[in-house]
Amino acid sequence: MTQYDSSPLIQAARQQKPSHIPVWFMRQAGRSLPEYFPVRGDGTILNAIQVPERAAEITLQPTRRYDVDAAILFSDIITPLWAIDFGIDITPGIGPTCEKPFRSEDDLQRLRPLDPSSDLAFQHDTIKILTEELTIPLIGFAGAPFTLATYMIEGKPSKTHHNTKSLMFSEPALWHKLCDALADIAIASLQAQIEAGASAVQLFDSWAGILHPQHYREFVFPHSQKILAALKSSGVPLFHFGTNTAELLDQFADAGADVVGVDWRTPLSAARQRTNNRVALQGNLDPSICHSPWPVVEQEVKRILNENDNTPGYIFNLGHGVQPTTNPDILAAIAKLVHSYGS
Ligand code: CP3
Repeated sequence: MTQYDSSPLIQAARQQKPSHIPVWFMRQAGRSLPEYFPVRGDGTILNAIQVPERAAEITLQPTRRYDVDAAILFSDIITPLWAIDFGIDITPGIGPTCEKPFRSEDDLQRLRPLDPSSDLAFQHDTIKILTEELTIPLIGFAGAPFTLATYMIEGKPSKTHHNTKSLMFSEPALWHKLCDALADIAIASLQAQIEAGASAVQLFDSWAGILHPQHYREFVFPHSQKILAALKSSGVPLFHFGTNTAELLDQFADAGADVVGVDWRTPLSAARQRTNNRVALQGNLDPSICHSPWPVVEQEVKRILNENDNTPGYIFNLGHGVQPTTNPDILAAIAKLVHSYGS
C-alpha cells in the first residue's frame, strides 16, 4: 500500500476505475525539453544521473509542463551496468556503447552482482528528493535482460543484432547465464527503487520484438518472468514494455506484469484480445504523429481513446519514447485532451 493507491495511474494499473484516464509519456524528460540542456551540462547523461539534485530536477521538468499522472525517474537502462564497471557508456548522439563487447564465458567475470546501497546510492538519494517534491506517483525502471544483452554483445546500437542472435543460438548455456545475471541486476535495482519510494516500475524490453515467438519463449521469457515474480511481493504495479511485440503480447501478459505497453503498430482492441483482459494496457500513439499539425494529433488521440471505449485498465502513452524533435506544447495539449475525455 502506498500513498498513491487512489491515484489514477495506480488504479488504472490495477484495472480499477480511475476518476480520469491517466497519461504519461515514455522519455518525457530529456532532450525534447529546452530546459534540460542547461541542467545536464556539458557532460554525458551519466554525469547528470549521478548528481541527485540534477537528476531530480530533470525528472521534475516535464511534470511542470504537462498535466501527467506520473513522473519517471531520470536515469537510463544501462546505469546499473555502468555502475558495476562492466565497461559500458553512453556516447552522445549514438547511445549505449561498449568497447569490449560481451562475447565469451570470460566476460561473465565483468558482470559482478549489483549492490544498490553503494553502486546506486545516487539513485536512492534522487528518489528521496523526488518523493518529497512530487504529488504524483514516481515510476522507476530497469532494462530487461534481452535488451541490455543486445547493447553488451553488439557494443553499440544495432539494426540487425547479428552478434546477439549468434550468441543466443550457438551458445545457449552462456546466453542463459548472461541473462540470469542481468535479471539479478534488474531485480536488485528495481527493489532498491521501490524501497526508496517508487510507486510503480517499468521493465523495458524495447528490442524483444525482433524475435520469433518461439525463440522469445525459450531465450527471453524465463528471465523477464523471474524479474517480475521477484517484484510481485513489493505490491507496486509492474509495467512491461517492448516494441514490435504484436506476436508477443500474450507472452508479455503471461510474464507477470500488471500493465503491458503496446506500440503503435498494434490496435488496442487486438492487444486486448491477445492479452485476454488479464492485464491493463498502456499506449499507443505513434510518437512520429506528434510532429503533425494539432488537428491530426487530436484526431489520432481521440481515435485511440474511442477504441479503448472507457475500458478500465488503460493508461494513455505514446507507443514508444518521445522523440527529441517533439514540440513540448503538443505533449501538453495531448495530456489535457486525455484528461478531458468523456467529461
Ligand atoms: O523516460 C524518461 O523520461 C526517463 C529517462 C530515460 C532515458 N533512457 C534517458 C536518456 C529512460 C526511461 C531511458 C530508457 C532507455 N535507454 C531505453 C528503453 C526505452 C526505449 O526508448 O526503448 C533504451 C533502449 C535506452 C538506451 C539508450 N540510452 C538510447 C537508445 C539512447 C539514445 C541515444 C541518442 O543519443 O540518440 C540513450 C541515451 C539517453 N537516455 C538520452 C536520454 C535523455 C539521450 C542522451 C542525452 O540527452 O544526454
